[in-house]
Amino acid sequence: MVSLGLEDKVVVVTGGARGIGASIVQLLVELGAKVAYIDVIDSEPPEGVLALKADVTKLESMEAAGKEIEEKLGPVYGVVANAGITRDNFFAKLTDEDWDKVIAVNLKGVKNSIQPFIEGMYERESGSIVGISSISGDRGNAGQTNYAATKAAVIGIMKSLAREAARKKVRANAIAPGFINTEMVKSLPDKVKDKITAEIPFRRFGEPEDIAWAVAFLLSPVASSYVTGEVLRVNGAHHT
Ligand SMILES: NC(=O)c1ccc[n+]([C@@H]2O[C@H](COP(=O)([O-])OP(=O)(O)OC[C@H]3O[C@@H](n4cnc5c(N)ncnc54)[C@H](O)[C@@H]3O)[C@@H](O)[C@H]2O)c1
Repeated sequence: MVSLGLEDKVVVVTGGARGIGASIVQLLVELGAKVAYIDVIDSEPPEGVLALKADVTKLESMEAAGKEIEEKLGPVYGVVANAGITRDNFFAKLTDEDWDKVIAVNLKGVKNSIQPFIEGMYERESGSIVGISSISGDRGNAGQTNYAATKAAVIGIMKSLAREAARKKVRANAIAPGFINTEMVKSLPDKVKDKITAEIPFRRFGEPEDIAWAVAFLLSPVASSYVTGEVLRVNGAHHT
């Protein structure tokens, strides 16, 4: 039998209470990892999972959560920076508030999710970081200038961090999901969803599990030990 080598590895998932994050948490548990998630909403974690309430926009809140996770579960091997929000509007109408909020969660939040753990990873010369980008950051999307800016930035962060962290044997990669069936896209009008589906060669939205398996691959010290600074697109051939 082969394994992904994630047994007993401590992995932190932000935004793990629902959607893609919850699916990542579930799969990692099944693969034997010790999982903690961080979210701003209340939720019932799966058995054996440590759920903490913290806000990725606040470094102090993330540092406190990080300390608690390491005390309870041990040194962190993996971070999945998954928490993200949308505040869509056409650029001409986009408010400063919606710009700032998206930047705070999706961009600064990614930094704040990784920083509490990076020194420890360097010391142990072991770690894998996955940032959840988006098809919108890769190819742009009307009505999402704020969101797309942050998701393009996630790619920039991961590529730069990969170069910095390689000497310490720590890896950093991004995943760019296409349209995935979660609360985030459920709010789209049916007409818009039908139009998008028609553009996707697979003729369907992806499922959260499709992203979870990509995360498991990139976290795995066995399957992806030489993969870093990469962007894995998971989008049913919905490319540029
Ligand atoms: N659903 C899609 O089609 C899609 C496509 C591409 C990328 N993504 C990205 O995947 C990630 C997950 O999206 P999803 O569809 O599961 O969304 P979702 O809204 O279902 O889940 C996001 C989670 O992040 C949490 N969160 C929000 N703000 C937070 C904060 N400040 N601190 C901590 N947690 C916070 C939410 O409470 C929620 O549990 C996001 O980064 C999103 O941008 C989603």
